[in-house]
Amino acid sequence: MYLLRCIECGSEFDSDFIYQCSKCNGLLDVVYDYSEIKLNFDGKNLSVWKYKEALPVRTDPVSLREGGTPLYRIEKIESGVKTLFVKHEGLNPSGSFKDRGMTVGVTKAIELKMRTVICASTGNTSASMAMYAAKAGLKAVVILPSGKVALGKLAQALMHGAKVIAIKDNFDKALEIVKSLAMRKSLYLLNSINPFRLEGQKTIAYEIYDELGFVPEAIFVPVGNAGNISAIYKGFKELVEMGYTDEVPRMIGVQAKGANPVYRAFVKGSKEIEPVKNPETIATAIRIGAPVNAKKALRAIYESGGAVIEVSDEEIVEAQKLLAAKEGIGVEPASAASLAGALKFEEEIESAVCIATGNLLKDPDEVIRVCGKPIEVEANVDVIEKLL
Ligand code: F0G
Repeated sequence: MYLLRCIECGSEFDSDFIYQCSKCNGLLDVVYDYSEIKLNFDGKNLSVWKYKEALPVRTDPVSLREGGTPLYRIEKIESGVKTLFVKHEGLNPSGSFKDRGMTVGVTKAIELKMRTVICASTGNTSASMAMYAAKAGLKAVVILPSGKVALGKLAQALMHGAKVIAIKDNFDKALEIVKSLAMRKSLYLLNSINPFRLEGQKTIAYEIYDELGFVPEAIFVPVGNAGNISAIYKGFKELVEMGYTDEVPRMIGVQAKGANPVYRAFVKGSKEIEPVKNPETIATAIRIGAPVNAKKALRAIYESGGAVIEVSDEEIVEAQKLLAAKEGIGVEPASAASLAGALKFEEEIESAVCIATGNLLKDPDEVIRVCGKPIEVEANVDVIEKLL
């Protein structure tokens, strides 16, 4: 039904128990016999599990009804893109696109009879994993960079019952630690190095095609650990392999200036990144200096004729405010990076989709910092009238 294939040396594995190639340590892709898969792109009832045939699970999914997110046409924000859409992944059950990956990843954990799932996270992965682990009756352990995770995300991980451990270091170190722990204690690792998790996220591509009925010219995606852009590209490539279309969109990654290893590699024309030591950005979700999926992401970007753009924190906040105040779309800072990138992109584009990866409610502290606190006054109608 499916195999795991190393993106570096091409070795194939018929086992679900590995995360990386046992021969060269390369990243793995799930590959199928595409001639056997028939999907239904009728534009109706979109959801992750609508495309179950193209997902690597054998059992009933652990689902909280993820996917089927709205694709909004942007009407009031001007850009070089003629027809611009935003896909609001912040409207998934836990408020981010991670749910697409977790529904598949946690289902796989159950299939493999694992008892505990673990991840490192800038916040959203931990919130989503804690939620799906709760639904599945699994224990969840999350390791976070202390003081750098937005409050809403932390609240979710705690309330859904995960064991939350904050380290005095950054995300990259947290990921290093969970990779070692997963091996040592046989815990199921649900970061995006897990190829099954990324399979869920590729359904973003399926849904875009399902709803629009065509492949847009470009997709703008915020890049942190570089899993999502790789997954979305894989989804589009599979549509070609299955014969539904013959084109893929240009994959355009957007990084924050202070956390931009993929941008730097792209500017040099390199296929590999040099890690950024102390990444820093207001968009804490993508505050990552050594993205594990960088090779997959760069492959997607080069192969599709895409690009990587870097945006400043000011540009991110500006895009976040525009989306919220002009279009009624509330997103967290990292998510607004995709629109900031589209606004900055200098080439003319016919049609594009910006992926809004997470909900506005995830990071309330940032909102107060950039919008200020509400005006506080006496409860008096005359006083209030003067303020209007
Ligand atoms: N946007 C949001 C809101 C995110 O939470 C993330 C990643 C990204 C974009 C970038 O996606 O890592 O696949 O390139 N958040 C991870 C986490 C790292 O731990 O929640 P990516």
